[in-house]
Amino acid sequence: MEEHGFDFRRQLSIMARERLTFSPISEISTLVQAHAALSFGAGEPSDGTIPKTSFQAAAERAFADPGIWGYHHDELGDLDLRTWLLERMKLDDMAPDWVQAEDILITHGAGGAISLAVEALVDEGSVVLVEGPTYSDSLLALRRQGAVCIPVPSDADGILPEELERIPALREARFLYTIPNFQNPSGCTTTLARRRHILEILRRHDVAILEDDPYHYLGYDGPAPTSYLKLAGNDRRVIHCNSFSKIVAPGIRIGWAVVPPALKEAFLALAVCDGLGPALLLQRALLYLMRSLDFEKYVEGLRSEYRSRRDRMLDLIERRLAPLGLRTNRPGGGFFIWAQAPEEMKDFHSEAFARYAVRREKIGVVPGNAFFPEGASMGDRAFRLSYAKLPPEHMKEGVERLARAWTSFAGQRGKSDR
Ligand SMILES: Cc1ncc(COP(=O)(O)O)c(C=O)c1O
Repeated sequence: MEEHGFDFRRQLSIMARERLTFSPISEISTLVQAHAALSFGAGEPSDGTIPKTSFQAAAERAFADPGIWGYHHDELGDLDLRTWLLERMKLDDMAPDWVQAEDILITHGAGGAISLAVEALVDEGSVVLVEGPTYSDSLLALRRQGAVCIPVPSDADGILPEELERIPALREARFLYTIPNFQNPSGCTTTLARRRHILEILRRHDVAILEDDPYHYLGYDGPAPTSYLKLAGNDRRVIHCNSFSKIVAPGIRIGWAVVPPALKEAFLALAVCDGLGPALLLQRALLYLMRSLDFEKYVEGLRSEYRSRRDRMLDLIERRLAPLGLRTNRPGGGFFIWAQAPEEMKDFHSEAFARYAVRREKIGVVPGNAFFPEGASMGDRAFRLSYAKLPPEHMKEGVERLARAWTSFAGQRGKSDR
């Protein structure tokens, strides 16, 4: 017997042995904690925006509901919550006419919905198209299932249609995974014209879409364009995933998927294997919270808070980091700014820089290669900055630390302590 008891390493499945990896974001959070650092790494809501008191009142109401203690016999999740979501999605230009409450599945966050979609649609070796860059943890779920992910180059307006057309494996792709609004990590939004163009290409090649939209309500310069789900209308090639993580709290782990009828059976069977959905108590509490709020006013409050954080961050970057050569974009919403090293910094490597910055100057950022499939080098010169969680009063100090790290890292190139 080993020091830690039974040696399960010998028993690990091929999947666990060969395809599981940890989230690079968790690695940075661990380093941030270990060094008591400030962080632009966390892509989650600021503590102050979480409606804790109202949620507590809603949860107390939910406690009195009958049926919350037993197994819930509706695998789709709470019907009243699904009905609320349906109404919201119709109001917000997200759902076409065919979508009804029975097409909505409550999931463990958007991540849970993505995981189900990947399990339902991906075999080992299946081709999946992703944005370049894309959300790191979805790449992990795709990798676990054995997908071959092909990043499609994107610009400020989203995926480049001509690059999509150029992909030799386009026709055999199982789906395109896209985050069309205020994307993680680039902050970019796919314009309506691009969405139409991309949809037309995918229709022509008979490829489905996995649309991931957790930042939908966080547009600071205007609302999100019409969803792929709605644009696709009756051809029902879009699985739409969404979440309360960014507009309420990630800790409640509640999201949803709009599942096309042809996939419903597979999704329900997978959801059962996946430990059933989120706790009914929490689903009911969330429903009561939503009913107690003026939703429009509520999300406008979030937008106004994050808009001012974004503007402050951009202003600090402009003043302190742009003169050092760091190139950044201006996101129209969401939580993220995408930062890139200039061409002149030939041997800049974002993973080395991220480790260096947290160790040397106690400031966390997420390296760009976390957002590309393994082995791709496109993220090596980029990193992600989140302005959502770090309190505004620490932003100046955070940017100052980043500037110091950037300057000394550039001076250190070639030395071994990177
Ligand atoms: C694009 C995107 N999809 C999914 C998720 C996961 O969200 P959830 O907490 O709802 O699982 C995140 C969280 O950062 C995200 O940015």
